[in-house]
Amino acid sequence: MTEMKLAGKVALVTGGARGLGRGYALRLAKLGADIAIIDRTLKGFEVYHFEKKKMTGPSVVEECAAWRVRAMGLEVDLTQRTATEKAIARVFEKMGRLDIAVCNAGGGTVVFADEVKAKDPRAKRKGEAGPVDITTTGTAADCPQEMLTRVLDINLMTCMYTCMAVAPYMKRQKSGKIVTVASTAGLVPNPGYHPYGTAKSAIIFYTRALAQELAPYNINVNCMAPGIIRTGRLGDRSWMADRIPLGREGTIEDCANVVEFLVTDLSDYVTGETIAIDGGFRDRR
Ligand SMILES: NC(=O)c1ccc[n+]([C@@H]2O[C@H](COP(=O)([O-])OP(=O)(O)OC[C@H]3O[C@@H](n4cnc5c(N)ncnc54)[C@H](O)[C@@H]3O)[C@@H](O)[C@H]2O)c1
Repeated sequence: MTEMKLAGKVALVTGGARGLGRGYALRLAKLGADIAIIDRTLKGFEVYHFEKKKMTGPSVVEECAAWRVRAMGLEVDLTQRTATEKAIARVFEKMGRLDIAVCNAGGGTVVFADEVKAKDPRAKRKGEAGPVDITTTGTAADCPQEMLTRVLDINLMTCMYTCMAVAPYMKRQKSGKIVTVASTAGLVPNPGYHPYGTAKSAIIFYTRALAQELAPYNINVNCMAPGIIRTGRLGDRSWMADRIPLGREGTIEDCANVVEFLVTDLSDYVTGETIAIDGGFRDRR
């Protein structure tokens, strides 16, 4: 039987409507935490067959509630600072406390599937019925303005606004666990994946700075840097297995295991750290 080691805690997962965020929300619910999900759309899983076929309820909120915890969902664009603050205030009002924040919203997304203009060829992917999210192909020297602003906003700014909005509640409680989400693209430059890598690298720096500031309040701030992890958005990368030292692409469970470590007392003496979950990919020769 699963130990309910997070019973009585309230966990916020941003970008929890599908993919890795859904996996984190379900893991934390399974461990007994009450769950609040904030995502720009709670139905984002409908875009990808890979995500849709896993769903066991109308949204991740109902899936979490099936673990007999309280669960709520809010549709908010976290690139908007005031809206982020208001959303987190609503979570606190409804749930009564705030112990964990997993700042997962993000991705190399330039245009979300629901915003795609008809017949944009970049929004096509074999095996998917409708348009998919369009992802970045910018370089460090050549990046269109729309891509630059969008990718910095949805990765760096969503993370910083969320952290800044949860900090006062956790400071008052004199406890908290914040997990930010970078990428191995923020550890090793990847040609053609700019400005995503720049945003994720900044998250690693921000995590260290925030950890210093919040340590006196008994708040741990750590970062995770996934490598190639199978989600609907990223698509099937099993063809890359022979380039990954551990011989396979990562799974959502691989990442949820690290989240579990970072939000439980197992990591009480760890702060400002970044953990890569990439099967050794970043150091391959
Ligand atoms: N899949 C991977 O291999 C991988 C690798 C490295 C890092 N990551 C990071 O992990 C996180 C999750 O990735 P994923 O593959 O599950 O992607 P995903 O697109 O499936 O999930 C991201 C979620 O964030 C939400 N979101 C995006 N912008 C938002 C905004 N402005 N406001 C509110 N919600 C917003 C989306 O709606 C979506 O539900 C991202 O931060 C991504 O950069 C993923």
